[in-house]
Amino acid sequence: MHSNPLPRLDEHPEICQQLRKLCRLRPGEIWTDPIRGHKVACMDAGDTPSIAALMGGDRAVLAIQDPPYNLVAFETRRLDEYIAWSQRWVSATLSATAPNCSLYVWLGADQRDHFQPLPDFMVMMRAFPVQARSFITVRNQRGYGTQKNWMAVRQELLYYVRGNPIFNVEAEYTDIPKTLRGYYKDVGGERTENLERSKAGTIRAGNVWIDIQQVFYRLEENVSGCYAQKPLKAIDRIIKASSKPGDLVIDFFAHSGTTLLAAEMAGRCCFTADIDPIFCEISIRRLEHYRRTGRTGWQNGHAFEHELQLGSLDDAGTESPINGSTTPTQISLL
Ligand SMILES: C[S@@+](CC[C@H](N)C(=O)[O-])C[C@H]1O[C@@H](n2cnc3c(N)ncnc32)[C@H](O)[C@@H]1O
Repeated sequence: MHSNPLPRLDEHPEICQQLRKLCRLRPGEIWTDPIRGHKVACMDAGDTPSIAALMGGDRAVLAIQDPPYNLVAFETRRLDEYIAWSQRWVSATLSATAPNCSLYVWLGADQRDHFQPLPDFMVMMRAFPVQARSFITVRNQRGYGTQKNWMAVRQELLYYVRGNPIFNVEAEYTDIPKTLRGYYKDVGGERTENLERSKAGTIRAGNVWIDIQQVFYRLEENVSGCYAQKPLKAIDRIIKASSKPGDLVIDFFAHSGTTLLAAEMAGRCCFTADIDPIFCEISIRRLEHYRRTGRTGWQNGHAFEHELQLGSLDDAGTESPINGSTTPTQISLL
């Protein structure tokens, strides 16, 4: 099969140099969607005046933030610097939200690099006027660290609220199966077990999600070049639980534009930002591509395939199972 993915952009500065020429936003600029009023901004999530410019007079009811947390993405910043930086973007986030709002933060640990900002982040959050409501675990299918450590197959998602925001999990149908046996009960003189008694084979969403496939190159929603893409299904679940149609959702770490696209699909409006013009451009193009084709990503291609051609590769073993790590053989601007 013909395959023309972008490799991981964090490992290919020479490709990023080419892509920058194709980006419509420069730092500080904001793109406004002419159709639904979404906005994409090239700015620092922790810069409150820039965020104020993005928001205008609007306030979001829901923020979904997925900051970089590993040392590779964050060079060699120390933990206390990371937390001080987190304080700035949380503060900017809260300045952009309505009095009754929900804040979700994806934050994990990098098992390989021994970087675990999660407890420090949770303690830091106590100084903000928000209430910690839940701590969700998303179980990945694939992991790493099987030889010398427990395989890392988990992602953490913190859920905070301010005031009394909407919470609508009842409307949610999931694919989360009943996995645990037990709860024996006598019914009609016979011993039955909960799996055979229950009518539904699935449960409503609790704070452990095991029904979401993480993004990898074979999925339609894959955006090659992106190395930290969240699944649409997870973002859709958050959006449906914590906002209603027409509401404004924010995400200041756009990357592949998952929140923007999920908001579009669920009839919400999204203001999103990324510090890197390339990820702003990818987010805008992903939205446009979806509107044009109905596709949620570029399974075998990429967002810049009309202008930038990578040496074509068939996928006979050249691609890594993890998001877009094929090595291109040649790069040229058309
Ligand atoms: C973990 S990724 C987000 C992934 C995203 N949720 C998705 O599904 O594609 C983090 C993103 O934050 C961006 N970023 C890093 N520092 C930033 C900052 N100070 N302000 C805004 N964006 C930043 C990076 O360029 C990267 O695209």
